[in-house]
Amino acid sequence: MTTLELKVNGKTVCTEVEPRTHLADFLREKLLLTGTNLGCEQGVCGACTVMIDGVPTRSCIAFAVTCSGAEVRTIEHFDNDPVMQELRAAFTAEHALQCGYCTPGMLATARDIVTRLPEADDARIRHELSGNLCRCTGYVGLVRAIRRALDARHASANATPCPTMPEGEHRGH
Ligand code: FES
Ligand code: FES
Repeated sequence: MTTLELKVNGKTVCTEVEPRTHLADFLREKLLLTGTNLGCEQGVCGACTVMIDGVPTRSCIAFAVTCSGAEVRTIEHFDNDPVMQELRAAFTAEHALQCGYCTPGMLATARDIVTRLPEADDARIRHELSGNLCRCTGYVGLVRAIRRALDARHASANATPCPTMPEGEHRGH
């Protein structure tokens, strides 16, 4: 056993783990964070994607011990996250899920696209999403959902009046 200390969803966790334990198994079985799904368990499908130090990462091929000192965020962390709320609404509106098995990983990747690449076009969205497989819905709705979230963010940014401008002066000038 090896001592592991890391932060998970904002809380410090210090425990003993087998060196061969993958992060996904550690999160699901030791911390009972079962929102992280396991599909292929060989780094192909992206269902197990979590954020490690802000980067979307496949937790099925990351050893837990290699995450010592890291900040891990799983889908549970994003319950009240405004970007994730926008994305969940967009996924629903665009029918971007059916069984939902791939959805936690898809949302993690989608949030990364929306926050890191605000100017992404559909081709870039598809490229960024290419590491996440969906076995039942297809990808058209997923791309549309991310497009919708990006467009909504642009629209709301453009609609915000300049905070230094006195009330009313932003109209028509
Ligand atoms: S379960 Fe990790 S990539 Fe498929
Ligand atoms: S919604 Fe079923 S695998 Fe994607």
